[in-house]
This record gives sequence, C-alpha cells and structure tokens, in this order.
Amino acid sequence: MNSNKGMVAIEETVNWWKAIVESMNDGVLVIDRSGIVRTINPEYTRITGVTPDIIGKPLVLYRPGARLPETLASGKSQVGVYRKTHDREYVVDMAPVMLDDKIVGAVSVCKSLTEVQLLTQELEKQRQKVKELQEQMSALHRVRYTFDDIIGAESKMQDIISIARKTAATDLPVLIRGESGTGKELFAQAIHHASLRSEKPFIAVNCSAIPSALIENELFGHLDGSLVSQSVAGKAGLFEMADGGTLFLDEIGDLSLDVQAKLLRVLQEGAVRRVGEVEERRVDVRIVASTHRDLYQLIAKGLFRNDFLYRLNTIDLQIPPLRERKKEIPLITSSLLADRFEVEDNVMMFLTQYDWPGNIRELRNVLDYAMCLVDENERISIRHFPDFMQKQHTLYNEEKGILPLHEAVEVAEKQILVSALQSCEPTVGERQEIANMLGISLATLYNKMKKYNIK
Ligand SMILES: Nc1ncnc2c1ncn2[C@@H]1O[C@H](COP(=O)(O)OP(=O)(O)OP(=O)(O)O)[C@@H](O)[C@H]1O
Ligand SMILES: [Mg+2]
Repeated sequence: MNSNKGMVAIEETVNWWKAIVESMNDGVLVIDRSGIVRTINPEYTRITGVTPDIIGKPLVLYRPGARLPETLASGKSQVGVYRKTHDREYVVDMAPVMLDDKIVGAVSVCKSLTEVQLLTQELEKQRQKVKELQEQMSALHRVRYTFDDIIGAESKMQDIISIARKTAATDLPVLIRGESGTGKELFAQAIHHASLRSEKPFIAVNCSAIPSALIENELFGHLDGSLVSQSVAGKAGLFEMADGGTLFLDEIGDLSLDVQAKLLRVLQEGAVRRVGEVEERRVDVRIVASTHRDLYQLIAKGLFRNDFLYRLNTIDLQIPPLRERKKEIPLITSSLLADRFEVEDNVMMFLTQYDWPGNIRELRNVLDYAMCLVDENERISIRHFPDFMQKQHTLYNEEKGILPLHEAVEVAEKQILVSALQSCEPTVGERQEIANMLGISLATLYNKMKKYNIK
C-alpha cells in the first residue's frame, strides 16, 4: 500500500516537472551523465527542428556539432553560443546539472535568434528614442547668442570681447558684472557657444527669481518627498542638468549667505548632494556668474562671502554702461536696424544725447518702437521715438529739432533753475541759499528767473 502511494507521489512530481519544462518559452534539452538525451521540450523542437525521437539516444551521435558534452565534461557553463543548422539560427546557454556537488548531466536552453533579433530591434528603437529625447533636451538648452552677435567698437569693449573669447577655451569661472541691459547674458551665452562644451546644455538660473526656500532644491535636486511638491520621483537639480556644460548663475548678488556657502562647497568638491540624499554625485560644470550689484559693497556689509567671490571671479569682466561708450551708439543702431530702415540725419545725435539707463536693451526697445511707428518708405525721425525720450532731451525741441548749442545751454540752465527753486520756499533767505549753492549772486538769480519767466 505504502510503496504504491510513494510511486503515485513520484509520478505526480515527475509529471509536474515535465509540465513545467514543456510550457517553457525557451527550448530545453537535457542529457544525463553519459550524454544520453533525457528530455526535450516542444519549444526545442520548434527552434532547432530536433524531434522527440532523440530521447534515449546519445546526443553526439545525432548532433555531432553539439557543445553540450563539453559542458558535461568540464562542468563549465557556456553563455550566448550562436548556432546555425540549415536555415535555423539560435543562441544557446549551457550549464551542468549538479546533484550533491557532482555533475549528473547538462542542460541546454536556447532561444530562436529571430526572437532575439526582435528584442534587439525593440531595444535599438528605444535607444534611438532616448537619444532623440536627449537631443531635444540639449536643443532646449542651446544658446541663442554667439560672439558674432556682440557689437562693440570702442577699444574697451574690444578688450573685453577679446578676453571673453580667450576664456571660452578654458574651464575657468567667469564673473560678468554690469548694469541691467549691458549684455551680461549675451556674453555668458557667447562664451558657452565658443567653448568645447557648446554641444552640452547651457543652463541659466536667475538666482533672484527663485524663492530662497526652493533654491537648494532647484540647484541640487531633491529626493522623493524631501520637498512638499507634486513631484513623485526624485528630481535632478540644475547642476546635474548642466553636467558637461555651463551653469549660468545670473544675479548672484541676490543669493543668501546660506546658499552661497552651499554653492561654494559644491564648487570646491565638484559634487552635489540632492536635498535629503546622503550620496554625492560628481558633476562637471563650468560656472559663469553675473551680477548688476557691487559685490565688494555687499562684502563690506557682510551680505556676500569673500571666499565665494574668489571662487567665481577668476576672470572678471566688467561691461561698461552704454552712456560711457556712446561712440558705439551709431554702430549698434545701424546694426539693430539691419539696413531695413533709413534714419534722418539728426537721429544719431538725438540717440547719443540720451542717457540710456536701460543700456543696450533700452536702445533695442526704442528702436523696435520706432521701426513699428515709421511708415513704409519713410525715414525714421526723432518723432518716432517715445515721448519720454523727447521730454528728457535738452538738445531737442519739437518744432525746431536739434537746437544750436547756445539755445540748448539755455534750456539746460532753465531746467536747473526750475528744479533748484522747486526745493525752496519763495523767501529771500532761501533764494540766497540757492544762489550760493549755484555759485551766482542773488541779483543774477533774479535776472535769470526773469529771463526764463520762472515765478
Ligand atoms: N554688445 C551688444 N551687442 C549687441 N546686442 C547687445 C549687446 N549688449 C546687449 N545687447 C542686447 O541687449 C539685450 C539685453 O542683453 P542681456 O540680456 O544680455 O543683458 P543683461 O546684462 O543680462 O541684463 P539684466 O541685468 O537686465 O539681466 C539683449 O537683447 C542683447 O541682445
Ligand atoms: Mg541678464
């Protein structure tokens, strides 16, 4: 009774294992320690064409090229062996079958190459997709401006451009200082474009625009859940995104001391740690920083770190404001008008006289404005420029156009007197003070007030 039960159990187990082998997606052939084929599954037949009548026969007799006996003899696995019989191609993995540390047989598992090829093709497709996405991402971070876009005729500007060009070939940090609209970002982009990193991303970070609570997460990235945000997965920071390329830290003077210290550490170590993460990631990033603020004054006030400044300003480019290089205005103007518009003779003088608090950006804007107002076949004239420019102009008068010098001097003199007198009471005592301040006698002050009809 008992032995009968045992037999049934063994039969069940054997059937069970047979069923598993038969249902496998890979072809399977097993030999015993004498090299006799003990089993093959339907998939093996499908792939290799070998039929089940091989079972019970020595493998070498039926498959003279078979390499499974080698595995049986050596006990060494063989992986990814390419086989071709007739028009069938497949790859085989072979392994010894071990029982109590002894080799009791060997198993061969094969996959049809057409399936492998399909998988390879699919993998290749996915690789291509990833490559395309990477290229799209790089394109998003490609720069718009190059050195060819920087207009500069004055010798000082030429010097700055030439230094900037030289630094492009290096990985040195560059600090670009200058008022708003002087072209700081233009220079930063041109340097990246001319560098060996130009195919890699240029990532611009406006340090003053990111709330201080978020800036570390933005710069260094963060782990899952380390930030109260909607993002589900951990996120790479801008440093990681700029890897291999250039990170442009715009308005660096607006960073808190705390973030300055953290940035300094990253620059020193060449590695970032995502917020909430322990592990550091190496990054290869070239730093270009900019500011419109006086960093030395900030240092004196304890708002900017000395050591941080010295990490950034290996190359220090100070771009002068437009009012200090007015000679360039005609060149920049004609370049921005791109030969599409002609201008009246007095326009250049009008533009040169203005003070340009918004620098080249402002010049660009008012030229866009004039190009929009001017009719076809008409030349751009002073009246095509915004009112606020005409009002501030001492050399220009709506009826007469550009004034002769003596008249312009009178306009300026009147403006000075009006604004000085506005600041005092109309008493003799206070007017005497104004006269003293202006370095004229009280009588002269009254005469001029009469001349210009100032009450
Ligand atoms: N030397 C130049 N030649 C040609 N265009 C220039 C030059 N300098 C600035 N510009 C133009 O002026 C505009 C402002 O430049 P940019 O944005 O680089 O200034 P910025 O110094 O970064 O200003 P902000 O401090 O306000 O950010 C851009 O349209 C730029 O093309
Ligand atoms: Mg800028």
